[in-house]
Order: sequence, then C-alpha cells, then structure tokens
Amino acid sequence: MRIAIIGTGNVGLALAGSFIKAGHSVTLAARDADKTRQIASKVGASAATSAKEAAGAADVVVLAIPFGEVESVARSIASVTAGKVVIDATNPLKADFSGLATEGGPSGAERLAKLLPDAAVAKAFNTVLASLQANPNMYGTTLDALYATDDAHARNVMQELITSMGFRAVDAGPLAGARELEALAWLNIKLNASFNGSWTSSAVFLGLPAAATTELAKTTN
Ligand SMILES: NC(=O)c1ccc[n+]([C@@H]2O[C@H](COP(=O)([O-])OP(=O)(O)OC[C@H]3O[C@@H](n4cnc5c(N)ncnc54)[C@H](OP(=O)(O)O)[C@@H]3O)[C@@H](O)[C@H]2O)c1
Repeated sequence: MRIAIIGTGNVGLALAGSFIKAGHSVTLAARDADKTRQIASKVGASAATSAKEAAGAADVVVLAIPFGEVESVARSIASVTAGKVVIDATNPLKADFSGLATEGGPSGAERLAKLLPDAAVAKAFNTVLASLQANPNMYGTTLDALYATDDAHARNVMQELITSMGFRAVDAGPLAGARELEALAWLNIKLNASFNGSWTSSAVFLGLPAAATTELAKTTN
C-alpha cells in the first residue's frame, strides 16, 4: 500500500517503521518540510512538503497529529482524499491531559468523518502506545490492534494492513465504536500517568470470539 503519514512524532515514526518493515511505501508530512525530509531519510520513507501533497499521492492516509490539529489538517486534505481510507490514530485528550475532550459526544473519528464526508474514515492505532506500534509480539503474545469503521473497503484495508504489521486485527464495529477505542486508550494513558508507568502496556483480549478477529471477519464480509 502507498501510505501517507501526517505527523512525524512518536506515532508517525513508529508506524512508518512498522509499515515499511511490512513492505508498504510511506510518505511523511508535517509542518517543517526540512525536518520531515531528514526524518524520512532516516527511516526509509519519502517526504512531502505538505499534508495535501502526501495524501494526494497515497491510497491510505494516517493522521498522527495532536487532536487539536485534526480539523485544519482535515480541511487541507479534503480535496484529495475522496474514496481513500483515512485512519485517525489520534487520541482526543484535553489540553491538561485530565480526560477526553470528546466526553459525552461523538468521538474524534466521527468528527473527522464529518469533515471528510467523501473519505472512508477508520479509527485505528490509537489504542497501541507508540512504544509498541512497531513491536506486535510482546509479553509472549501477539498484541491486539483494534479498528472501527463504517466502510466495507476500509475494513478490508485495516485487516490487511494491521495483519501485515504482525498485530491481531480486532474489528470494533462501526465508526461509532471509536468512542470505546478512545476511552480504552485514555484508560491505558491514565494508568501509566497515575502510576508512573513505563508506557509499554497494551490491552489484549483473551478468549475473544473468533469472529471479532482477522480470520473470520474476512470471511463474513
Ligand atoms: N504517543 C503515543 O503513545 C500515542 C499512541 C497512540 C495515539 N497517539 C495519538 O497520536 C497523535 C500523535 O501523538 P505523538 O505522540 O506522535 O505526538 P508528537 O510526538 O507530539 O507528534 C506530533 C506530530 O504532529 C505534527 N504536527 C502537528 N501539527 C501539525 C499540522 N498542523 N500539520 C502537520 N503535522 C503536524 C508534528 O510535527 P511538526 O510540529 O514538526 O509539524 C509532530 O510530528 C496524538 O493525537 C496522540 O494522542 C499517541
């Protein structure tokens, strides 16, 4: 897959490494084009001078930026993402990290879908800490990467992409399931922040119905 990642921080870099290792081609974009070029050359990715340029040349676009930047970036890529899969990897944290800014309302991903009505929006990778996004086999098991989307094509893309990276893909249902995925990520963040964690914890579902995971979800589409 040709993947554009907007954001070259913890998540952008970890996902870039993981995608490239899985054989996908990656183009990075952030605000500082020189810095982006330097980072891209270190990880074997290409660099674009803007989010729009990166998204325009990709099949799949990943937003790995602060929640507060999503609206302006979404507006900048709207004209080049029609029919494309746009993955929202953000967590809509309050500025003071005291909780979710979206509490009681639509998830960040549902808000993104409203901004990009012609794109196939999926929520994914927000539940996996950046420290593990390129390490799917930890603690003697295969880690779960959960995703949610309303779009059948995006569901297939997510299963293929997540599996190619070595994670178990778990189908959390329609995009409204992003509310649970964002809450799950917040719980993991809160536990690490509250108890001085090492930021290497991850939720793994034991005994999950097989239909929720890659193998059977594929056959039911
Ligand atoms: N850290 C984690 O473990 C983790 C795990 C899952 C999800 N998340 C979520 O993923 C997102 C990114 O987290 P992070 O830890 O990678 O943050 P980060 O290290 O602060 O990186 C944020 C990146 O976004 C770029 N950026 C900011 N505004 C931008 C804009 N308007 N246009 C283009 N690029 C922009 C920044 O680059 P420039 O400033 O150079 O433009 C930077 O590369 C957040 O929403 C976070 O909640 C984080």
